[in-house]
Amino acid sequence: MKSSNQSCSSDCVKRRGFLQTTAASVTMMLLADVFPGRVSAQDAGTEVPVVELSRQRIAKLSDLTKDVPIEFNYPSRALHTNCILYKLGTEAGGGVGPDADVVAFSARCTHMGGDLSQGYIAEHKLVGCGEHLTTFDLTRHGIMVAGHATERLPQIILELDGDEIFATGIVGLFYGYHQNPTAENN
Ligand code: FES
Repeated sequence: MKSSNQSCSSDCVKRRGFLQTTAASVTMMLLADVFPGRVSAQDAGTEVPVVELSRQRIAKLSDLTKDVPIEFNYPSRALHTNCILYKLGTEAGGGVGPDADVVAFSARCTHMGGDLSQGYIAEHKLVGCGEHLTTFDLTRHGIMVAGHATERLPQIILELDGDEIFATGIVGLFYGYHQNPTAENN
């Protein structure tokens, strides 16, 4: 006869496994809706809020140069809303353009808000934080690959309309916010 502890332990493990699988599946579905065809199981390790924000023109596709980042603020000029647009020259999750290589991310490290604007490592398509050396993979939705941060870098959702690149939302939360700012927050 099973003791109540054995039974609980077994049930708890099963329940935990079910919840983890469900959370990963839901995350993957959310990301798949936003980035059709470019989400792998590896990307679905954490719950990530996907938030639609105002539509804002960022740049012209034809003006971009490979490995030359462009800084912008989105969706307003509120604290910590500085972001960076990258033309990586290699296909990336959530990328737009004919080569799916144009992506954008928050420029604030998810560890303690370090500024990432000078941290692009073009050779490896990573961005690194000079504060405590966390690095994020820009080809895989900003997942953390080393360092102190525990959350991926918030990714800006991009749309291409002709030659114009627009931001329309964010996957994740800007550093320091419980709720993402809107265009009205300055
Ligand atoms: S603030 Fe970026 S690693 Fe600590």
